[in-house]
Amino acid sequence: MSAFVYKADPVRGRVWAEVFARQAEPELDFRIWPEIGDPAEVHYLAAWDPPADIRDTFPNLKLLFSSGAGVDQFKFDQLPADLPVVRMVEPGIIKGMVEYVSWAVLSLHRDMPAYQRLQREHSRWMPIQVRPAAKRCIGVLGMGSLGQAVLGQLRSFGFDCAGWSRSRHAVDGVRCFAGAEELGALLSRSELLICLLPLTEATRGFLNAELFAQLPAGASLIHVGRGPQLVEADLTAALASGQLKHAILDVTDPEPLPSSHAFWQHPQIWLTPHIASMTQPETAAEVVLENIRRFEAGEEMVGLVDRGLGY
Ligand code: GLV
Repeated sequence: MSAFVYKADPVRGRVWAEVFARQAEPELDFRIWPEIGDPAEVHYLAAWDPPADIRDTFPNLKLLFSSGAGVDQFKFDQLPADLPVVRMVEPGIIKGMVEYVSWAVLSLHRDMPAYQRLQREHSRWMPIQVRPAAKRCIGVLGMGSLGQAVLGQLRSFGFDCAGWSRSRHAVDGVRCFAGAEELGALLSRSELLICLLPLTEATRGFLNAELFAQLPAGASLIHVGRGPQLVEADLTAALASGQLKHAILDVTDPEPLPSSHAFWQHPQIWLTPHIASMTQPETAAEVVLENIRRFEAGEEMVGLVDRGLGY
């Protein structure tokens, strides 16, 4: 008997169970934590927060799947070195991110923060000249599956798009920058900067005063990476000086953000509670089953984490 344990939101787990019942059982038995049955039978685990003593809990575990796109919540030093870890790369999460970033970009491109202020001031009918999308330069930090999908959608609106990542990528119609030495070139043209970077030691505190200073004056930030990538005081200072005009933050540090935090009241910040994108249980379960098939066949899995890089 081979079993799969799911240890995340149980409501979504029930949808995973239906997919497994249709596509994998009886060969692979689906179990929702804490009903794990015989631990020796568990070969696969999908979790947001795996048990600390993972090898003691599941002595025959072959694969660990993150139930979300990120893996920064995993304590890698506590995971067995030989246990493959797989990120969630599934169509539902990608589509959600494309929707959110499109909403954020279009809101900023069409000056919605300014119109909200004007409405609050009552009867100030003050049109702002509309800029064509082709004249608006957008920069995306992080060109993995999410970044590339976002760039594809923004291009279809006609925006002037560029992307930056650690290693070189090629995306049709998008200016691609790579590595530390090309970061400045991406920043200096990005009126709207979107952060889609994974959280690693290299990206902690990445969105800081030095980076903001390299953007065109009056640029805006859309942050959909991870909270600890942002130096809050530097953002507040850049908004106050006018170097930045507006920020849309879907992630904060900590989460939830305490109700006393200044960001809640900040007129130049829009906050959402880490909802830019969510794993969709139906498609996630299908992708995980396909990855298990690939693993068993000795084929390459989608989203296999490089522990050296941390994503
Ligand atoms: C959400 O941020 C995720 O990692 O899926």
